[in-house]
Amino acid sequence: MSLKVFITGGTTGIGLALAKKFLAEGAIVAVTGRSQEKYNAIRDKRIIFYQSDVAKSDQMKVCVEHFIKHQGGLDIIIANAGIGYSEKSAIPNFAESKRIFEVNVFGVMNTIEPALEYFHQKGSGHVVCISSIAGFNGLPGTSAYAASKSAVSKLFESYAIDFKQSNIDVTCIHPGFVDTPLTQRNKHPMPFIVSATRAGDKFYSAIMKKKSYYAYPRFFSGLVRFLSFLPRSLYISMMRSKFLNYSVK
Ligand SMILES: NC(=O)c1ccc[n+]([C@@H]2O[C@H](COP(=O)([O-])OP(=O)(O)OC[C@H]3O[C@@H](n4cnc5c(N)ncnc54)[C@H](OP(=O)(O)O)[C@@H]3O)[C@@H](O)[C@H]2O)c1
Repeated sequence: MSLKVFITGGTTGIGLALAKKFLAEGAIVAVTGRSQEKYNAIRDKRIIFYQSDVAKSDQMKVCVEHFIKHQGGLDIIIANAGIGYSEKSAIPNFAESKRIFEVNVFGVMNTIEPALEYFHQKGSGHVVCISSIAGFNGLPGTSAYAASKSAVSKLFESYAIDFKQSNIDVTCIHPGFVDTPLTQRNKHPMPFIVSATRAGDKFYSAIMKKKSYYAYPRFFSGLVRFLSFLPRSLYISMMRSKFLNYSVK
């Protein structure tokens, strides 16, 4: 029987790469996004589309329940949709910061809530989120993005403990830099950047192995992880240096 997979924000980037990989492996796949145009640009129309905003819980409930009803179930839900700042600034843009939390944190909860209701009834399921290595530390110029990813990583760490007794698998993925529309506007260096296809293949494999925690690329994520073990005052002094601080005024 085909796996039934629902991915938020799957019209470009990592979500689309995952959608294509699951499809190639025989799964039934739906993606979401706000823009119909982005979906229209996808050639493979076997990918089902729901136009919706993850920040709106009522919209997420409707489309997840529609998918379950019309595809006869759901096996994996992937909370992938996420946004960053339009510009990395040392002066926080609070309107953007609040929207980042709405999408990257509450959007994840809005996505998995209707799926979990179904998984509890079914007695099994798999919830996945795409966090980021940006959540390992506070980062210059991208405060709410780093904090939002830190929040979802910790949410999923708790879920991995809590959901075990309900037979629901939990996977939290921490990508480094991936070449997508999100990063194509970055002006700073992006060490160890990988293509979306490569990232999609690696994340697919981590999901199928039901890893609760996965970070990739391994060396770069390990390095960033190491920074999170440093005394915070040392880390802050290091990151204030011109070499590492790429936020603009
Ligand atoms: N690229 C990287 O280097 C990188 C690294 C670490 C983590 N990540 C994370 O990976 C995830 C995917 O990023 P990406 O690089 O693939 O970005 P992307 O190419 O910009 O794709 C984002 C996708 O999310 C959708 N989306 C954005 N806001 C949405 C909303 N409110 N409701 C529903 N869909 C929404 C977009 O479609 P619409 O605009 O049409 O809604 C698009 O399909 C994000 O959570 C990001 O934080 C990315």
